[in-house]
Amino acid sequence: MALTHRLARSDDVDALRRLMEAAISQLQKGFLDERQIASSRTIMGLDTQLIEDGTYFVVESNGSIAGCGGWSRRATLYGGDQSPGRSAALLDPAKDAARVRAMYTHPDHARKGVGRMILGLCEAAARSEGFRSVELMGTMAGEPLYRACGYEVVERVADDRGGTAVPLVRMRKSF
Ligand SMILES: CC(C)(COP(=O)(O)OP(=O)(O)OC[C@H]1O[C@@H](n2cnc3c(N)ncnc32)[C@H](O)[C@@H]1OP(=O)(O)O)[C@@H](O)C(=O)NCCC(=O)NCCS
Repeated sequence: MALTHRLARSDDVDALRRLMEAAISQLQKGFLDERQIASSRTIMGLDTQLIEDGTYFVVESNGSIAGCGGWSRRATLYGGDQSPGRSAALLDPAKDAARVRAMYTHPDHARKGVGRMILGLCEAAARSEGFRSVELMGTMAGEPLYRACGYEVVERVADDRGGTAVPLVRMRKSF
């Protein structure tokens, strides 16, 4: 089935939250245990600022949402609306890396190129605004996608704000 893309709208929010919940609970199995998956909900999810900024993409297959993801010219590196410690400060394309944010594919559409397509859209948009690199905080489930798309590991960290330490990997790609 052909994949199409568009910018996310505010009336997509409920559908996006459902898709993210399915991706978080099902596609992280094999990478995290159940306690880690539960903990990851605190530090993952929808950042509605991206929709407001017009930097969040939706990919559709036959009229239904297959995946979503975006980029940002703001400082926050990862997390959803509910995550602590966010910053809406604007980045400087001359010296900062743009962010890749909140990548989720519906489990029914996994491994069909949805994530790769969204990453390409994000990179092209960031580049067109003058950024020379992009950076992200990846989950263990996300790392294979980012590696396949040319991202390199910057550092490995753990975030325990959800109660159990969740391994994460900071990755970067220069244009
Ligand atoms: C990470 C995620 C968005 C990937 O989405 P996807 O649409 O399935 O990825 P793609 O189909 O574009 O994958 C492109 C390539 O990445 C690699 N890849 C993606 N998922 C992989 C996996 N689970 N295992 C191994 N390689 C994988 C492969 O090289 C793949 O190419 P191939 O299928 O031809 O072998 C999805 O697994 C997801 O939603 N995970 C749960 C939420 C999450 O952790 N998001 C990341 C937040 S940083």
